[in-house]
Amino acid sequence: MLVDAFQRRITYLRLSVTDRCDLRCTYCMPEAMTFLPRREVLTLEELHRLSLAFIARGVTKLRITGGEPLVRRDVIDLVRALGREIGTGLDELTLTTNGTQLAQHADALTAAGVRRINVSLDTIDRDRFRALTGRDRLPQVLEGIAAAREAGLAVKLNVVALKDVNAAEIPDLIAWAHGHDHDVTLIEVMPLGEIAEDRSDQFLSLAKVRADLDKRWTLVPSAHRTGGPARYLDIAETGGRLGLITPLTGNFCDGCNRIRVTTTGQLYPCLGGGEMVDLRAALRSGDPDRALSGAMDRAMAIKPHRHGFAIERGAAPAQPRHMSVTGG
Ligand code: 5AD
Ligand code: SF4
Repeated sequence: MLVDAFQRRITYLRLSVTDRCDLRCTYCMPEAMTFLPRREVLTLEELHRLSLAFIARGVTKLRITGGEPLVRRDVIDLVRALGREIGTGLDELTLTTNGTQLAQHADALTAAGVRRINVSLDTIDRDRFRALTGRDRLPQVLEGIAAAREAGLAVKLNVVALKDVNAAEIPDLIAWAHGHDHDVTLIEVMPLGEIAEDRSDQFLSLAKVRADLDKRWTLVPSAHRTGGPARYLDIAETGGRLGLITPLTGNFCDGCNRIRVTTTGQLYPCLGGGEMVDLRAALRSGDPDRALSGAMDRAMAIKPHRHGFAIERGAAPAQPRHMSVTGG
């Protein structure tokens, strides 16, 4: 079993299969983003092998992420291979996507055993989407979400709350999502990686968002938990559930059950920390399974107690790594 120095059991792996993306969300990466050299990226076989090693050490939930995982050409082969582990160690295989290519892959995801996906969507206004992501792809994303539902996938929307950009739209976005039977989770923007704008111009506290929502709806705090950092509210009028992830205004690290692996095999035990263990070296050693297991033990020893996010004008990011590298 994987247990860290603070007695937290680690059962959830988020695996980034590419740091590349077909969008350029302004809070995530700059337009002229530098991506990792392709020769450093793990092969599909390596990603598969390391996933199995984590499952052997008690990981029961695996999320494929990126960047945008569906821009990696062979990703569905990996999803299929990992889907075969469901029921024999692995309880759940999920995916986080921006949805632009979801329509092409929805059926294959269901066939592979995926039951729920997260779609990142910060606006349903076409002009705003283009301004925020740098690409005019809202129609494809909406098509992708519809295709996912048709394929039987449950869809949860992840919405990053952004001052001036989508603050005024959030209630309508929630109403739309709940009307289509999608759960919604709001996320505070985190200071990860250099971007073109100042984060303090983007940051919007969810306490503020909640106060706005309170004027429109009856919000009932819910006991629902998924083992993740979100806290939940039920909205009486929509009948839907709203998750709140508050890395900046509310610490969520005590019950942390997760670790992240980048597409080059760097294991980061904390999204907000610099601590890292190199799994690629372990994978390419003479005895990969043993080396991987040792690397996991080292990661458990160095997993920090909590992140130290803060957003201040002119400040450098808490970590130089963009979220698209560490895995969303
Ligand atoms: N802060 C908060 N969320 C971010 N995401 C990407 N970059 C950031 C950031 N700096 C979000 C995406 C997606 C999820 C994987 O991470 O919008 O919903
Ligand atoms: Fe791509 Fe997601 Fe980053 Fe947007 S937030 S640029 S969709 S990786």
